[in-house]
Amino acid sequence: MSAVLLDGKALGLKIRQSVKERAAALKQKGITPCLAVVLVGDDPASLSYVKSKEKALAEAGMESRDIRLPQSTSEQQLLSIISELNKDDKVHGILVQSPVPKHINEEKINAAVAPQKDVDCFHPDSVGNMVLGRPGFLPCTPHGVLMLLREYNVLVAGSHVVIVGRSNIVGKPLANLLIRREYNATVTLCHTGTKDLKYHTLQADILIAAVGSADLIKPDMVKEGAAVIDVGINRVNDSSLPKGYRVCGDVDSAVIQKAGFFTPVPGGVGPMTIAMLLQNVIEAALATAGK
Ligand code: GUN
Repeated sequence: MSAVLLDGKALGLKIRQSVKERAAALKQKGITPCLAVVLVGDDPASLSYVKSKEKALAEAGMESRDIRLPQSTSEQQLLSIISELNKDDKVHGILVQSPVPKHINEEKINAAVAPQKDVDCFHPDSVGNMVLGRPGFLPCTPHGVLMLLREYNVLVAGSHVVIVGRSNIVGKPLANLLIRREYNATVTLCHTGTKDLKYHTLQADILIAAVGSADLIKPDMVKEGAAVIDVGINRVNDSSLPKGYRVCGDVDSAVIQKAGFFTPVPGGVGPMTIAMLLQNVIEAALATAGK
């Protein structure tokens, strides 16, 4: 058996088309949705992510305020830039690409972004609202995963979802969203302290890998017919390629033979993250219009 591929590129494009229409309608009212995209330092992977986000914004007829800061930027400097962006009525959303350099306290940065502009859902108020099921932005990657599962009618209610990885960006929020009544999943969250990872992953009806460890999940760790969602984007050195590296997920591609559903890397979850980000920027812009 070979898995059904969950095509995040196609679904992401569909969502981006609808975002584009909503952006055009807002423009008619004199509001151009705008996201400030802040990158500190020159990590090549982060640079490529922010460029993809900026390109997607432009394609959707939205604006990006591209802010590139040197590695040496101090925490105070970054905080004051965020404070200016918070006050700027033309900026509807603020994204500070994670990770920031080690000398900057990321928690302070996340807490400095005004919650109404927090399209990443990283501010503690946003996270609290999300956990409590109150209105607010949903975090982009977890939301993208849920949209993909819905698009392909993967049964979530009553299913056992095993998540590998407890990051604040993916694992923790995804576990919280999946236990909402509207999804009704039973969730196991595995992490580096988990004793027998394979025991747990083999129980999964839906297995979600979000650890940042290339090809960690092997076919013998997956139940036949499971839906396997690969959130990992890892660069692995490969001198035979012009770029000197290849991109792979957290799931060994041989898993495709065993899984019922499978997200490719690239082209699975990655494009969904961007689509959900654009959707949040539209929502942020709409809120300022008082609609
Ligand atoms: N780094 C990895 N994923 C993300 C994301 O969704 N948002 C931001 N700001 N940084 C990230």
